[in-house]
Parts: sequence; C-alpha cells; structure tokens
Amino acid sequence: MVESTYDFTQDYLRDGRKRLFTALLGSMATRPVRGLEVGCLEGRSMIWLAENICRHPASTILGVDPSRNAQCYTRLLTNIARCPMASKITLRRESSFTVLPGLESAGYDFVYIDGDHEGKSVLFDGLTAFEKLKPGGVLIFDDYEWTNSSGWFRVMPKPAIDAFLTVCGPWLDVLHKEYQVAVRRKVD
Ligand SMILES: C[S@@+](CC[C@H](N)C(=O)[O-])C[C@H]1O[C@@H](n2cnc3c(N)ncnc32)[C@H](O)[C@@H]1O
Repeated sequence: MVESTYDFTQDYLRDGRKRLFTALLGSMATRPVRGLEVGCLEGRSMIWLAENICRHPASTILGVDPSRNAQCYTRLLTNIARCPMASKITLRRESSFTVLPGLESAGYDFVYIDGDHEGKSVLFDGLTAFEKLKPGGVLIFDDYEWTNSSGWFRVMPKPAIDAFLTVCGPWLDVLHKEYQVAVRRKVD
C-alpha cells in the first residue's frame, strides 16, 4: 500500500495488524478468495486486504459499513477509487444487521470484524459471519482487549467474543488470541 496515494486520517491498521493479517491470510494471496469486512471507515484495512490478500485476479472483497458520517464516506469512496485493486472491491453502505444475513452461506474465505463495538453487535456479527465462512476459512475480530474509557459502549467486545468462542467452539480452531482474535472454521 502506497500511503501517499490515499486520504486517511485514522490508522486502525497499526500495532502489528498487517503482520498478523499476513501470517493468518497470506497463503490465500495466490488463489481466488472472497473476503468480507465489517466496518470499513476510510477503507484502510479493506484496501490493504484487497492489495495484499486478494491478489489473485479472481479474488474479491465486500465491505459493509453504514458510513453515517458523510465526510468519512466521501473519503472511503475516494480511497477505493484510488486503489489499483478497486475493481475487486464491493461496498455496501448498510449495517451488518441488514447485509450479513443475506450473504451466501459458506461463501467467504476470510472475514474481518471491526464494525459496531457494542457487545451484542460484535456477537451478532461473529455468529452471522461464521455461518458465511467456508470450512477452512478464517474469521478475525479486532479489539478483543479494548477497554472503553469513554463509556460509549455498555458491553465491550471481549465478553461477546468469549461467548462466540464458547458457543461455536466445537466448530472452530483458535488461531490467535491477543488484541485480535482469529479462528478457523473446521472442515466438517
Ligand atoms: C474502527 S472503524 C473501522 C476501521 C477500519 N476497519 C480500518 O481498519 O480502517 C469502525 C467502523 O464500523 C462502522 N460500523 C458501525 N456499526 C456498524 C455496523 N452495524 N455494521 C457495519 N459497520 C458498522 C463504523 O461506521 C466505522 O466506520
């Protein structure tokens, strides 16, 4: 990713996320894959995933974000337009609550969940996205250990991700559990 190409004001890809994505998803770069991102903001992580993981000509990524902030949405569209992989990216300006249930079951190779951080939304996104993951596919949650000093959220991501890991436990292998949590859906 050539930073100067893009109009980013935030960096939520910092602190080793690129390294982690490469370790977890790097092997997907040579084959056709379908990716899904919940929570795109200005497009930084989605564009990085498009450029670095969706490298095969047939690979695609779907981004889902209600983009309630008009300025931020304009920046997202501008950034996607500047991306050399723009043709691989589909954006739906909607909430995960309306989009995820309608997606193809077992249709995605990887999912990155970084949307609404309210616990019940994280749990909804995790459970719904897991069903959309191909067997062998990888789901990554951001912000497992995030603490909320602002008081914006009533329940943090951590208990939601823990609940997800408990109820989906028999069908997944945990690949990583630190500030991000990554799981692979077992092949039945
Ligand atoms: C932390 S930001 C995402 C950062 C982005 N993944 C990155 O690394 O550049 C969280 C985003 O989630 C979006 N969001 C909030 N509720 C959502 C929902 N229900 N479905 C999808 N996205 C949501 C917000 O609009 C915001 O853009």
